[in-house]
Amino acid sequence: MNASSYRLVVTSGPTREWIDPVRFISNPSSGRTGWGIARRGLKYFKEVVFISGPAHHKYISVQGAKNILVDTTEEMKAAVHKSIKSKTLLIMAAAPADFTPDRTSDSKIKKTAAKQLNVKLVPTTDILKSLKDHGARDFYRVGFAAETDHVSENALDKLERKGLDFICANQVFKESQGFGEHANTLHLLGHDGELRQFGPGDKLKIADDLLKYLIRVLP
Ligand code: CTP
Repeated sequence: MNASSYRLVVTSGPTREWIDPVRFISNPSSGRTGWGIARRGLKYFKEVVFISGPAHHKYISVQGAKNILVDTTEEMKAAVHKSIKSKTLLIMAAAPADFTPDRTSDSKIKKTAAKQLNVKLVPTTDILKSLKDHGARDFYRVGFAAETDHVSENALDKLERKGLDFICANQVFKESQGFGEHANTLHLLGHDGELRQFGPGDKLKIADDLLKYLIRVLP
């Protein structure tokens, strides 16, 4: 891939799904991995679009990139779709919330109103899956798989289901690595089933090695 003629689109951080105006469902993704990839991407790509959910304040924008802040999974989906053109490499490093309340109350739900609060959750749209049949020319997709167990098996399954070129598998909540931590190890899986390891090390260094590898192997 001639990166200097490609746009890099990176999604990062968590999303929020609101129960009422003061309560939401989310996850502890810091946004550091996506931020590192977008920051390092400036060295190689024609343009970097950085789409971030409400991550740690240090990691919600990248100087020199086109920064788009989103809140919910639906907003992230809309921003991603808008950013995909021909000659795009999409790296979905975000951890969008997988479930959303079936309805959001317009006013704060009072705790005195009931003895218990039952919230019915329904799945959010899978952004990567929604791009499966996207017709853009020279459009490559890399997903992430945050797993606690059976990392490779689950990642390979996601690679196929989500129509990706590569998937980065990382193990979270084990050995203090993953969500929110500085050191990490990424395992990159392609359709050949081979596992390539990046790290352990600083997420910025891993981001650089990952980008260099992708640029080398993508057509
Ligand atoms: N992803 C997405 N849309 C969602 C949720 C996740 O596009 N609504 C993307 C993530 O950005 C990541 C990949 O899908 O690149 C895998 O995310 P992950 O949370 O590991 O997997 P899920 O598909 O949510 O599956 P599960 O929760 O069952 O592991």
